Amino acid sequence: MKPFLVGLLALVLPLTNAQVPHWGPCPEPSTQPAFNLKKFMGRWFEIAKLPAQFERGRCIETNFTLTLDGSARVVSSEILKGEVKRIEGTAVVEDKKNPAKLGVSFSYVLPYTPYWILSTDYESSAVVYSCTDVLRLFHVDFAWILGRTRSLPAATVEHGKDVFTNNNIDVSRMILSRQKDCD
Ligand SMILES: *[C@@H]1O[C@H](CO)[C@@H](O)[C@H](O)[C@H]1NC(C)=O
Repeated sequence: MKPFLVGLLALVLPLTNAQVPHWGPCPEPSTQPAFNLKKFMGRWFEIAKLPAQFERGRCIETNFTLTLDGSARVVSSEILKGEVKRIEGTAVVEDKKNPAKLGVSFSYVLPYTPYWILSTDYESSAVVYSCTDVLRLFHVDFAWILGRTRSLPAATVEHGKDVFTNNNIDVSRMILSRQKDCD
């Protein structure tokens, strides 16, 4: 690798939870047709995720609430070392022509990160993808399967993985999130 690329990776990696970057630009997955932000609101539990972050918290969930300006308040929580940690952010529709392409930010100083709803039935599960291009040379991505309940049938999780795979997103390293002993 060229030295400047190595330098670039060293700069970007700490920001991305040491996720392994993939060469090339982000894939262009299809998203939920006629996405209805309002129906997506409420409580979602993290069922599976990419990248594997074994050291992170458990019982991860996110609560979306519609705000008056048509965006959403996002409250994510997890249990880390026995303590409930919460972060609050904002989700906005980034592409008015495609409301399934949300952006989420957890700080006023941070840019919005893509948060694309690839597929959801609003009532039981959702397949969410986030990818960021770095100079079109490589990309870093995050992927989640969310559920309205703390666990989903194995077939639903497999179907969620298929949605990623059918969009050329590699989820072979996706891991199940820990949702035991949460309440
Ligand atoms: C989600 O957020 C709304 C608005 O702040 C709140 O009324 C509701 O109780 C929250 N639900 C959960 C499960 O935290």
